[in-house]
Amino acid sequence: MDHIVILTGAGISAESGLGTFRDNGGMWTKFNPAELASPRAFAKDPARVHEFYNLRRTACVEAEPNAAHLALAKLERDYPGRVLIVTQNVDDLHQRAGSADVLQMHGTLLRAKCAGCGIKWKAALIMTADDTCPSCGAKACRPDIVWFGESPYHMAEIRVAIAACDLFVVIGSSGTVYPAAGFASTARECGIRTLSINLDYPAGASSFDEMMTGSATRMVPRWVEQVLGVA
Ligand code: OAD
Repeated sequence: MDHIVILTGAGISAESGLGTFRDNGGMWTKFNPAELASPRAFAKDPARVHEFYNLRRTACVEAEPNAAHLALAKLERDYPGRVLIVTQNVDDLHQRAGSADVLQMHGTLLRAKCAGCGIKWKAALIMTADDTCPSCGAKACRPDIVWFGESPYHMAEIRVAIAACDLFVVIGSSGTVYPAAGFASTARECGIRTLSINLDYPAGASSFDEMMTGSATRMVPRWVEQVLGVA
């Protein structure tokens, strides 16, 4: 049976009210990522970094999965082969929509991590620079987010799954942040069919055999119906 790997980015959560990074008005058009999403930024001003992620965590908790998240959960339930979601998103909307096979390569807002001893735990809604690690007691609590300069999670598993899939789909990602931005061209070089679903043409558009252009809530349910119709 054919396997499908789906890479999602901020665009799939945009219609749930969570901001993207590089669109007009996106987070990285208002803030400098080097000052908020890097180990150096955290070392320099942990309170500012916590404030940024506290706002995003609060928005995430208040957001609801949209029709695109729900359609992917239905695909996983009803499709006879494996449907793996690899997401760059740090929200939990795929899981709340019902998807179980999800790898969060950039971490999650909902987990905290000790920058000292490395243990992880459920994040408080509001984290502060004065929080202490429940294991070693260090004042070094950070969100469990992969920052610029750090290694994304689950890379070995992701590469194996992509190499073994029959269709690789990218939904709502600009295709600008590596290593995720290179997955489609790698898949295509291996002879795997590739599809982009995006409001616009992403960077590296030539890596896709097919493009569906439109909003995720409109295009993803339509695509899922197509796949399930012929599965
Ligand atoms: P971007 O903000 O770079 O790109 C969002 C993409 O979603 C764009 O290509 C938009 O055209 C598309 N888009 C926006 N609204 C949409 C909608 N309603 N339906 C369909 N597509 C839509 O976000 P990412 O590619 O996810 O990393 O960004 C990748 C990484 O860069 C993030 O994980 C984050 C950021 O820095 C870290 O913080 C480590």
